[in-house]
Amino acid sequence: MQALKTDTYSVYFSAEAYQMLNEHLNERKYSKVFLLTDSNTLSDCKPYFKNLVAGSEDWTSITIPAGEDHKNIESCTYVWEELSANGADRKSLLINLGGGVVTDLGGFVASTYQRGINFINIPTTLLAMVDASVGGKTGVDLGTLKNQIGVINQPEMVLVDPGYLKTLSQRQLTSGFAEMLKHGLIQDDSYWNSLIQIMPESVDDNLIHISVAIKNRVVQEDPTEQNLRKILNFGHTLGHAVESYFLNASGQEPLLHGEAIAIGMILEAFLSTKVAGLSKAACDEIKTAFLTYYPKVKITKTQQNKIVQLLRFDKKNSHGTIYFSLLEKIGVACYNKEVSDEIIDAAFEYYDE
Ligand SMILES: NC(=O)c1ccc[n+]([C@@H]2O[C@H](COP(=O)([O-])OP(=O)(O)OC[C@H]3O[C@@H](n4cnc5c(N)ncnc54)[C@H](O)[C@@H]3O)[C@@H](O)[C@H]2O)c1
Ligand SMILES: [Zn+2]
Repeated sequence: MQALKTDTYSVYFSAEAYQMLNEHLNERKYSKVFLLTDSNTLSDCKPYFKNLVAGSEDWTSITIPAGEDHKNIESCTYVWEELSANGADRKSLLINLGGGVVTDLGGFVASTYQRGINFINIPTTLLAMVDASVGGKTGVDLGTLKNQIGVINQPEMVLVDPGYLKTLSQRQLTSGFAEMLKHGLIQDDSYWNSLIQIMPESVDDNLIHISVAIKNRVVQEDPTEQNLRKILNFGHTLGHAVESYFLNASGQEPLLHGEAIAIGMILEAFLSTKVAGLSKAACDEIKTAFLTYYPKVKITKTQQNKIVQLLRFDKKNSHGTIYFSLLEKIGVACYNKEVSDEIIDAAFEYYDE
């Protein structure tokens, strides 16, 4: 499996990953190495990792509680204090072993501790492997505002090992799979065709490699999200509104990110048929595929109105029109598309049909 080169670091896969990590540690002679986990990856991932990396028994372990609720400044303060109390200096290294919460938070903590120390990410969820592993976004939430605080900074390297997925719940795995389906839809129809023939548990390093390569190519072409990078938002404009609604509405079971953007991708495929030239047949294929992985969620008319209100609230915050990233056909995306409220209503009806 070939390593993928980003502008500043490499993403290594499977066996080669540990070989490269061991070499990197030998070469760089860090003053101290710290390993950040959350309470789940501490028990599920750390023992496996430690078996593969020489000298890791001497490192200092730091653990934060699992979950998005803990992706905040309080957790950062705890990690900064642990680093400080255990003698971390500017030549120390932080290795982040966990899902997107640990890699985002750990990346931010490392980027700010003593004005920046090196860090390495080892994503342990499918979502973190295929999405958070490139792009350099680090940070934490501020109250209910997601990723409000953070910096763009690149790790020394990223190691992707699907071996970690064995302990991940089916629901988390299927959620991450939605981002892979998105990569196929926006950039590669043959990749889409291969993905829809398998179940998320059959994902292997070849498929993950294709997803990381797609995201990397898009990010490299447009690092500051002026144009092309916007296509990564396919399904996310309405998907985020759906996600926020189910997170905050009383009596509602929250949806995982991938589950919400799966709904968003069906809705936005419908919008694509109206303003971007996607064929009805392709839209139906997309809907059928997503509904096999993500059972239909009942969205009442009242809930739909609240979701659209959340969308408008976002629009108010960004002082402008809502632009969608949509599909011209499977494998070809476009961006900066405007859509009328009537078409958005019709999209919810299409989802419910
Ligand atoms: N930086 C980026 O570009 C980027 C991209 C996408 C998402 N994100 C961020 O990533 C976060 C979501 O990531 P996530 O879905 O990985 O969430 P997460 O880190 O909360 O992980 C989900 C759950 O799985 C557990 N877990 C992780 N690995 C495991 C394993 N191998 N076995 C068993 N359990 C395991 C975690 O403890 C947690 O309970 C969000 O905060 C989002 O903002 C960042
Ligand atoms: Zn996403």
